[in-house]
Amino acid sequence: MEQRPIVEIKARRDGPYKVTGPIRLIDADGNEYDLAGQGESVALCRCGGSSTKPFCDGTHSKIGFRGAERAVAEADAAARARRSRGPRPAD
Ligand code: FES
Repeated sequence: MEQRPIVEIKARRDGPYKVTGPIRLIDADGNEYDLAGQGESVALCRCGGSSTKPFCDGTHSKIGFRGAERAVAEADAAARARRSRGPRPAD
């Protein structure tokens, strides 16, 4: 059985998705992006601020983008802390 090549997608801290491996990137109309010259990996915007979407153009740094995984982890920690303190006293 032929093994498929591994594609790695890494969420960079407060930055883009770095996709490494043999990929085809296709837009909503079915057009394939020309990835020639991109090297082994591409960085895909996940902050929504890039002017070269779907690619990252570094705007995430300028707008102070924070990756959701960190926000979710902080929200989870806050929820755990609230639960450990127990119910709030009645006003
Ligand atoms: S993640 Fe880099 S510009 Fe959006």
